[in-house]
Amino acid sequence: MKKLLIAIILTALAACGGKQEKSAENAETPTVAEGAATNLTPEEQAGQEIFDGKGNCYTCHKPDAQAVGPSIKEIAKIYKEQKADMVTFLKGNGKPIVKPEQYEVMKTNFYLTKTFTDAELKSIQAYMYSVQ
Ligand code: HEC
Repeated sequence: MKKLLIAIILTALAACGGKQEKSAENAETPTVAEGAATNLTPEEQAGQEIFDGKGNCYTCHKPDAQAVGPSIKEIAKIYKEQKADMVTFLKGNGKPIVKPEQYEVMKTNFYLTKTFTDAELKSIQAYMYSVQ
Protein backbone atom coordinates (compact mmCIF):
# COMPACT_ATOMS: atom_id res chain seq x y z
CA MET A 1 0.00 0.00 0.00
CA LYS A 2 2.81 2.35 0.94
CA LYS A 3 4.64 1.46 -2.24
CA LEU A 4 1.57 2.23 -4.28
CA LEU A 5 1.27 5.63 -2.63
CA ILE A 6 4.89 6.40 -3.34
CA ALA A 7 4.44 5.34 -6.94
CA ILE A 8 1.45 7.64 -7.28
CA ILE A 9 3.33 10.55 -5.76
CA LEU A 10 6.31 9.96 -8.03
CA THR A 11 4.07 9.77 -11.07
CA ALA A 12 2.38 12.98 -10.03
CA LEU A 13 5.73 14.67 -9.53
CA ALA A 14 6.98 13.44 -12.88
CA ALA A 15 3.82 14.72 -14.52
CA CYS A 16 4.29 18.11 -12.92
CA GLY A 17 7.93 18.26 -13.93
CA GLY A 18 6.98 17.45 -17.48
CA LYS A 19 4.41 20.21 -17.57
CA GLN A 20 6.87 22.78 -16.31
CA GLU A 21 9.38 21.90 -18.99
CA LYS A 22 6.72 22.16 -21.61
CA SER A 23 5.56 25.54 -20.45
CA ALA A 24 9.15 26.75 -20.46
CA GLU A 25 9.49 25.63 -24.09
CA ASN A 26 6.34 27.46 -24.99
CA ALA A 27 7.29 30.53 -23.03
CA GLU A 28 7.35 32.72 -26.11
CA THR A 29 3.78 31.96 -27.05
CA PRO A 30 1.85 31.65 -23.85
CA THR A 31 -1.67 30.45 -24.29
CA VAL A 32 -3.64 32.15 -21.57
CA ALA A 33 -7.28 31.27 -21.40
CA GLU A 34 -9.57 34.25 -21.46
CA GLY A 35 -10.42 35.36 -17.98
CA ALA A 36 -7.60 33.35 -16.47
CA ALA A 37 -5.25 35.09 -14.12
CA THR A 38 -1.61 35.68 -15.04
CA ASN A 39 1.42 36.51 -12.92
CA LEU A 40 0.12 34.69 -9.90
CA THR A 41 1.77 34.97 -6.50
CA PRO A 42 2.98 31.66 -5.03
CA GLU A 43 -0.10 31.55 -2.82
CA GLU A 44 -2.46 32.15 -5.73
CA GLN A 45 -0.64 29.54 -7.74
CA ALA A 46 -0.99 27.02 -4.93
CA GLY A 47 -4.68 27.81 -4.85
CA GLN A 48 -5.01 27.33 -8.58
CA GLU A 49 -3.32 23.95 -8.35
CA ILE A 50 -5.89 22.81 -5.80
CA PHE A 51 -8.76 24.40 -7.73
CA ASP A 52 -7.78 22.67 -10.96
CA GLY A 53 -6.46 19.55 -9.24
CA LYS A 54 -7.51 17.71 -6.14
CA GLY A 55 -10.28 20.19 -5.38
CA ASN A 56 -11.97 19.43 -8.68
CA CYS A 57 -13.53 22.89 -8.49
CA TYR A 58 -12.87 23.62 -12.16
CA THR A 59 -15.45 21.06 -13.22
CA CYS A 60 -18.21 23.39 -12.02
CA HIS A 61 -16.53 26.82 -11.90
CA LYS A 62 -15.10 28.47 -15.01
CA PRO A 63 -13.14 31.74 -14.74
CA ASP A 64 -15.55 33.91 -16.65
CA ALA A 65 -18.64 31.91 -17.51
CA GLN A 66 -21.54 30.37 -15.67
CA ALA A 67 -21.24 26.57 -15.71
CA VAL A 68 -22.78 24.20 -13.19
CA GLY A 69 -21.74 26.80 -10.65
CA PRO A 70 -21.26 30.55 -10.91
CA SER A 71 -18.07 31.87 -12.55
CA ILE A 72 -15.00 32.45 -10.40
CA LYS A 73 -15.24 36.16 -11.26
CA GLU A 74 -18.82 36.40 -10.07
CA ILE A 75 -18.06 34.61 -6.79
CA ALA A 76 -14.93 36.73 -6.19
CA LYS A 77 -16.79 39.96 -6.91
CA ILE A 78 -19.57 39.20 -4.44
CA TYR A 79 -17.16 37.94 -1.77
CA LYS A 80 -15.01 41.06 -2.12
CA GLU A 81 -18.00 43.38 -2.03
CA GLN A 82 -19.44 41.73 1.04
CA LYS A 83 -16.05 41.09 2.66
CA ALA A 84 -17.22 37.51 3.09
CA ASP A 85 -15.13 34.69 4.49
CA MET A 86 -14.63 31.95 1.93
CA VAL A 87 -12.55 29.80 4.27
CA THR A 88 -15.45 29.57 6.71
CA PHE A 89 -17.84 28.85 3.85
CA LEU A 90 -15.66 26.05 2.46
CA LYS A 91 -15.47 24.48 5.91
CA GLY A 92 -19.24 24.22 5.79
CA ASN A 93 -19.71 26.83 8.52
CA GLY A 94 -20.94 29.74 6.45
CA LYS A 95 -24.03 30.78 4.56
CA PRO A 96 -24.23 30.89 0.77
CA ILE A 97 -24.35 34.45 -0.56
CA VAL A 98 -23.88 33.92 -4.28
CA LYS A 99 -26.59 31.49 -5.39
CA PRO A 100 -28.31 30.27 -2.22
CA GLU A 101 -30.93 28.49 -4.32
CA GLN A 102 -28.20 26.16 -5.64
CA TYR A 103 -26.43 25.68 -2.33
CA GLU A 104 -27.32 21.98 -2.22
CA VAL A 105 -25.04 21.36 -5.22
CA MET A 106 -22.10 23.21 -3.70
CA LYS A 107 -22.61 21.53 -0.35
CA THR A 108 -21.65 18.17 -1.88
CA ASN A 109 -18.04 19.42 -1.97
CA PHE A 110 -17.66 20.13 1.72
CA TYR A 111 -16.70 16.52 2.50
CA LEU A 112 -13.58 17.30 0.45
CA THR A 113 -12.93 20.93 1.36
CA LYS A 114 -13.22 20.06 5.05
CA THR A 115 -10.09 17.92 4.64
CA PHE A 116 -8.06 20.90 3.39
CA THR A 117 -5.91 22.95 5.76
CA ASP A 118 -6.65 26.61 6.48
CA ALA A 119 -3.63 27.55 4.39
CA GLU A 120 -4.97 25.53 1.46
CA LEU A 121 -8.41 27.09 1.76
CA LYS A 122 -6.88 30.57 1.98
CA SER A 123 -4.85 29.88 -1.14
CA ILE A 124 -8.02 28.85 -2.98
CA GLN A 125 -9.59 32.15 -1.97
CA ALA A 126 -6.46 34.05 -3.04
CA TYR A 127 -6.58 32.32 -6.42
CA MET A 128 -10.28 33.03 -6.93
CA TYR A 129 -9.75 36.69 -5.99
CA SER A 130 -6.91 36.92 -8.51
CA VAL A 131 -9.13 36.00 -11.46
CA GLN A 132 -9.88 39.32 -13.13
C1 HEC B 1 -20.65 19.85 -8.56
C2 HEC B 1 -20.38 21.21 -8.96
C3 HEC B 1 -19.47 22.05 -8.08
C4 HEC B 1 -18.17 21.79 -7.70
C5 HEC B 1 -17.32 20.56 -8.03
C6 HEC B 1 -17.73 22.93 -6.92
N1 HEC B 1 -18.73 23.85 -6.83
FE1 HEC B 1 -18.63 25.65 -5.87
N2 HEC B 1 -20.56 26.01 -6.36
C7 HEC B 1 -21.38 25.19 -7.12
C8 HEC B 1 -22.71 25.78 -7.23
C9 HEC B 1 -23.90 25.21 -7.99
C10 HEC B 1 -22.65 26.99 -6.51
C11 HEC B 1 -23.79 27.99 -6.31
C12 HEC B 1 -24.46 27.73 -4.97
C13 HEC B 1 -23.93 28.60 -3.87
O1 HEC B 1 -23.79 29.81 -4.05
O2 HEC B 1 -23.64 28.04 -2.78
C14 HEC B 1 -21.29 27.10 -5.98
C15 HEC B 1 -20.82 28.16 -5.20
C16 HEC B 1 -19.54 28.31 -4.73
C17 HEC B 1 -19.08 29.42 -3.94
C18 HEC B 1 -19.93 30.59 -3.48
C19 HEC B 1 -20.73 30.18 -2.25
C20 HEC B 1 -21.69 31.21 -1.78
O3 HEC B 1 -21.35 31.98 -0.84
O4 HEC B 1 -22.83 31.28 -2.30
C21 HEC B 1 -17.75 29.21 -3.68
C22 HEC B 1 -16.83 30.09 -2.86
C23 HEC B 1 -17.40 27.97 -4.31
N3 HEC B 1 -18.50 27.45 -4.94
C24 HEC B 1 -16.14 27.43 -4.29
C25 HEC B 1 -15.83 26.16 -4.76
C26 HEC B 1 -14.56 25.52 -4.58
C27 HEC B 1 -13.35 26.15 -3.91
C28 HEC B 1 -14.66 24.28 -5.14
C29 HEC B 1 -13.63 23.17 -5.15
C30 HEC B 1 -13.17 22.72 -3.86
C31 HEC B 1 -16.01 24.15 -5.68
N4 HEC B 1 -16.68 25.31 -5.42
C32 HEC B 1 -16.47 23.04 -6.35
C33 HEC B 1 -21.03 24.00 -7.70
C34 HEC B 1 -19.81 23.35 -7.52
